[in-house]
Amino acid sequence: MYTGLQHLHSYLAYLVLLGLIISLLNALTGWLQNRRFQDKDRKRSLLGLIPVHLQWLIGVVLYFVSPLGAANASGAAMKDATSRLYILEHPLTMIIAVILITVGYSRAKRLKTDNARFKNLVIFYGIGLILVLSRIPWQAWFAAN
Ligand code: HEM
Ligand code: HEM
Repeated sequence: MYTGLQHLHSYLAYLVLLGLIISLLNALTGWLQNRRFQDKDRKRSLLGLIPVHLQWLIGVVLYFVSPLGAANASGAAMKDATSRLYILEHPLTMIIAVILITVGYSRAKRLKTDNARFKNLVIFYGIGLILVLSRIPWQAWFAAN
């Protein structure tokens, strides 16, 4: 169970980054070119949303089965940068990023003008992507692949 989830979380992270980058580039070009916001633009913003939703669900389960997650939480572990990343910083930052991306998707459906929809996606997905990039355990990820 642990190994399977770990691999799933590790590979899905590529789709998370790819989906967010495609969504973001589409929103950015739509905003700058003043395009109409069509259904294909909403679907492209789903490319960013869906992998992120799946990933956070898997992440929460992983947190409770991984020896690096809840099982490792202690005052001493908090003093170690790598342990703290897995116990606290990675989960917390990723959850904030997921919430921002979801709010961005949701607001884009409700906003009135096409330009405001694209701009909203650029801001929310953009901050979300920066947060995700800031707390990926890069060394472990590269070592695993
Ligand atoms: C416990 C886990 C989850 C929670 C709390 C959650 C929560 C949400 C919320 C709050 C929205 C925004 C609805 C809106 O305003 O448009 C949303 C949308 C969405 N989620 Fe999740 N989600 C979860 C897991 C998943 C999973 C596992 C998937 C599938 C892979 C998924 C796919 C989607 C899709 C496709 C939408 C967009 C729906 C639409 O077009 O409005 N979610 N989710
Ligand atoms: C949604 C964005 C997220 C992304 C892009 C992401 C990405 C990653 C990556 C790339 C790794 C390293 C995998 C490896 O070593 O090969 C990792 C590990 C981990 N992530 Fe996430 N993650 C996300 C969300 C979460 C959430 C929300 C939680 C928990 C609540 C979580 C818990 C964990 C844990 C516990 C590990 C360590 C697993 C282990 O090696 O034992 N992740 N994550």
